[in-house]
Amino acid sequence: MERIDKIISSAKNICRKDASQLIKQGKITVNGKTVKSPKEKFDEKSDVILCGDEKIEYNEFVYIMMNKPKGVISASEGKSDLTVIDILPKEMKRKNLFPAGRLDKDTTGFMLITDDGDFAHRILSPKNHIEKTYIADLDKPFNDIVVADFENGIELKDAICMPARIEALDGDFKKAVVTIKQGMYHQIKRMFKKHSITVVDLKRIKMGGLSLDSSLNEGECRYITPEELKIITGEE
Ligand code: URA
Repeated sequence: MERIDKIISSAKNICRKDASQLIKQGKITVNGKTVKSPKEKFDEKSDVILCGDEKIEYNEFVYIMMNKPKGVISASEGKSDLTVIDILPKEMKRKNLFPAGRLDKDTTGFMLITDDGDFAHRILSPKNHIEKTYIADLDKPFNDIVVADFENGIELKDAICMPARIEALDGDFKKAVVTIKQGMYHQIKRMFKKHSITVVDLKRIKMGGLSLDSSLNEGECRYITPEELKIITGEE
């Protein structure tokens, strides 16, 4: 059970005061009855809540897929840099949203933004083996030695990486499709650097089994459906 003003403010992305105003104006009904006080509590999952004719859907958590552009940092707050939270459209903004995992400032592609800490932990923990797939544009072609090193678990200064997969995109060995299960700092750039290869462009294209929606331009986002969440975690 949740206070009705909280349910309305969260679902409509308005402040509690504005939600209270709608209640006082008699615009909110629950199971056919007009709500009188913002303090009344209802079950957002089973009660039928309307604002005028509009059905109020309450989501405890939200999950957003963003095609992250370059120049934006994957943090909730930035001192001078714009963050992925800053560039969310107004109607998607709500409290406690954070990026689930890090992409470098110059990396583009699939950024998952949520307010569900447990889910974020689940998809990021290397123990759960949720794969993240990237396209890396390289300054020179990779070869079989790189493939073997990635597959065996490449040794970096501070850690031995878990085995990673690498293949050429459309037969072009300067374009690598790399799949990793961890999210260490600059991981892919450092893995290639070990072989004196520089990553000139990096884009994340997949989390678990879910691909970045190709209709999203850089900077655009959309909600992830419950079915798609299962594709990320491999439950489907
Ligand atoms: N690996 C990197 O080097 N950078 C990223 O942004 C993601 C993975």
